[in-house]
Amino acid sequence: MITEVIKAAFKSHPLSQQTGHFTISDLRDADALTISLVTEIYGRVVAHIAFSSVTISDGTTNWYGLGPVSVLPEFQGCRIGTAMVNKGLGLLKSFDSKGCVLIGLPTYFDRFGFKNHPQLIHEGVPQEIFVAKSLFGRVPRGSVEFHQAFKQLSIIEKDAIADVIINYKIAGVMVDKANEVIESILKKEILTEMPNGKFMLRPSALEEYDTYFFKIAQFRVTEMSRVHKNPILKAIKY
Ligand SMILES: CC(C)(COP(=O)(O)OP(=O)(O)OC[C@H]1O[C@@H](n2cnc3c(N)ncnc32)[C@H](O)[C@@H]1OP(=O)(O)O)[C@@H](O)C(=O)NCCC(=O)NCCS
Repeated sequence: MITEVIKAAFKSHPLSQQTGHFTISDLRDADALTISLVTEIYGRVVAHIAFSSVTISDGTTNWYGLGPVSVLPEFQGCRIGTAMVNKGLGLLKSFDSKGCVLIGLPTYFDRFGFKNHPQLIHEGVPQEIFVAKSLFGRVPRGSVEFHQAFKQLSIIEKDAIADVIINYKIAGVMVDKANEVIESILKKEILTEMPNGKFMLRPSALEEYDTYFFKIAQFRVTEMSRVHKNPILKAIKY
């Protein structure tokens, strides 16, 4: 039910890769879903919010990440989101948490006291949409990382990676780098461009996102290099 709420809430969100529901299920499996709240109306789950622990490079502990927060489209604008954010922050305080960060619209989250702090960053995320709120003490200085469960590949990225693995050759693969899915895979460094204009797969980068694809990609890349070392197979033009 939570999955349906997250999918529906983010369906037309311009920046979402539609992976929030995967994140929640991975957080749950990893026993890392610190707070998971739902709002029910007549027994129907209409909204959900999650909080999970983050790590900060300066060693500060006891900070949390808010997200995703989702309200079914037909229930948006009824203050449910506000109530859930406030409830979650209240719970964090009661656990003696020191603060909370999130990636989201400052125009919405500033009402809860979240703001941009130049000394606190999240690599790869534009600073203007990375905001923090201290619940106790100072705002740390450093780089924040959310739980591993936030590193997800979208379905269309998985399809594109599957194509790359299938089409992979000794000297790499040709891809359309103007394609926005390929662009996103390049940004994640799963593919790297070679001087010859072809692209190499980087299984080690894939491992951070998806262990199945990592194993398949590693197998494919190893097979190709084995073929490359075999003089007879090497003579065969791909
Ligand atoms: C963002 C979201 C959680 C807000 O929940 P909600 O219940 O619809 O919001 P509320 O009714 O509590 O809104 C309170 C105020 O925030 C404003 N607001 C709501 N969504 C906003 C948005 N995306 N940007 C800016 N302001 C927003 C409302 O206009 C309202 O303003 P007001 O106090 O001036 O009247 C919900 O709209 C949602 O699920 N959106 C899709 C998923 C998403 O974007 N999640 C957040 C990123 S993790």
